[in-house]
Amino acid sequence: MSEVIADLLSSVAARWQSIDPLLPDPTSVPDSCGAEHTVPAANGRPAAVGWCRHLRLAPESAELAWGAAAQFWLTAHVAGEPAEPAIGAALDELLVRWSAHLAAEPTAADEDSQAVIRWPSRDVAGVRALLRHGLQPLTVIAARPAGRPGPAAAHRPADLRLRMADPADVGAVTALCVEVIGFDQYFGSVALHPHTARAERQAAEKTLAGPAPWTWLAERNGRAVGLLVAQPPERAAWIAAATRKSPVGYLATMSVLPGERGSGVGTRLVAELHRELDAAGVAVTLLHHAQLNPLSTPFWNRMGYRPLWTSWEVRPARALR
Ligand SMILES: CC(C)(COP(=O)(O)OP(=O)(O)OC[C@H]1O[C@@H](n2cnc3c(N)ncnc32)[C@H](O)[C@@H]1OP(=O)(O)O)[C@@H](O)C(=O)NCCC(=O)NCCS
Repeated sequence: MSEVIADLLSSVAARWQSIDPLLPDPTSVPDSCGAEHTVPAANGRPAAVGWCRHLRLAPESAELAWGAAAQFWLTAHVAGEPAEPAIGAALDELLVRWSAHLAAEPTAADEDSQAVIRWPSRDVAGVRALLRHGLQPLTVIAARPAGRPGPAAAHRPADLRLRMADPADVGAVTALCVEVIGFDQYFGSVALHPHTARAERQAAEKTLAGPAPWTWLAERNGRAVGLLVAQPPERAAWIAAATRKSPVGYLATMSVLPGERGSGVGTRLVAELHRELDAAGVAVTLLHHAQLNPLSTPFWNRMGYRPLWTSWEVRPARALR
C-alpha cells in the first residue's frame, strides 16, 4: 500500500473512531476489479479513494434471495473531520467516478444487477451525496454490544416452549426461513425465487447436522411458531471485520408466523439467544435487517441493537446517477 493511501486510511480511521466506537479501522486495500478511483484534494493528496468489487452469483444459489445476480460493491474512503461539508463533496465526486466506471461495464445494465455502497450509519456527512446519486438506504447491519439492555423480563408467555432444533426439524425450520424471506420482499432488496425453498432446506440440513446448530424453535401446542438462527464466533468470521470488537456473533434469521406476532414469541427467542451469547463471551452481536421493515426495525432497537452500517443501493447498477 502506498504512503498516500496509508495516510488517507488513518484519517478515515480517526473519523470513524470519533463517530462510532464499534467501527473497525480500515487498514488494507480491499479486493476489487483493480481500478482505483481517486478524488484529489487542493493539496494534491487524495480527498477520497474508492475500489469497486464485481460479484456474480451462481444460478440458483441461496445468496440470490439477498442480492442481485450481478453486484458492484464500492468501498469508499473519504478523508477529513466528522460532519465537514468537504466529506459530502468528496464522496459526491467519488460517486461521479464510480458511475462512469459502471457505465463502461456491460453487466451493470442487466435487469438483475445492483450497485451497493456500505456506509457507516453514523457518518451522516455523506447522506445527501448518497441520495443525490439515486442510492436508497435499504439494509442495515445493526449491532448489540454485550451487556446492552435487551428484552424486558415481562414478556414470558406461559404456553410457549423453546427448544434447540434438531435434524428432524428441517421442515419447520425451512418453512419459517422461507416465511421471513417472503415478508422481506416488501422492502426492496430481498427476492423469493422458485429455488429458494430448496436452497434454504439444504442450508438448514447442514446447520442442524452440525455440532452447535444455534437454531431455536418456539412451539405453541406442539406447533413451531417462531425460529431464531444464529452463528457463534467460529461461524461468524465472514462478518467479523465489520466491527472492531471481538468475538462477534451473528443473528442470521428471526421469524414468527403471522398470526403469532406481537405476543412475545420473538422477545422470548432473543432472550434465549442473549443468554447463549453471554455464556460464549461474545463481545458484539450483528444482524442484518431491512431499514423499511416496520416490524423488525423497532423490534431490534428494543432488543438492544442499533445501526452500525447502512447499505445504500440502486437497481439496476447502471441506474446510479
Ligand atoms: C420481527 C418479529 C420477529 C418480532 O417477533 P414478535 O414475536 O412479533 O415480537 P414480540 O411479540 O416479542 O414483540 C413485538 C411486539 O409485541 C409486544 N409484545 C411482547 N409480548 C407481548 C405479549 N405477551 N402480548 C402482547 N404484546 C406483546 C412487544 O412489546 C412488541 O411491541 P410493539 O407492538 O410495540 O411492536 C416478528 O414480528 C416477525 O416475524 N416479523 C416478520 C418477519 C421479520 O420481520 N423478521 C425479522 C427480519 S430481520
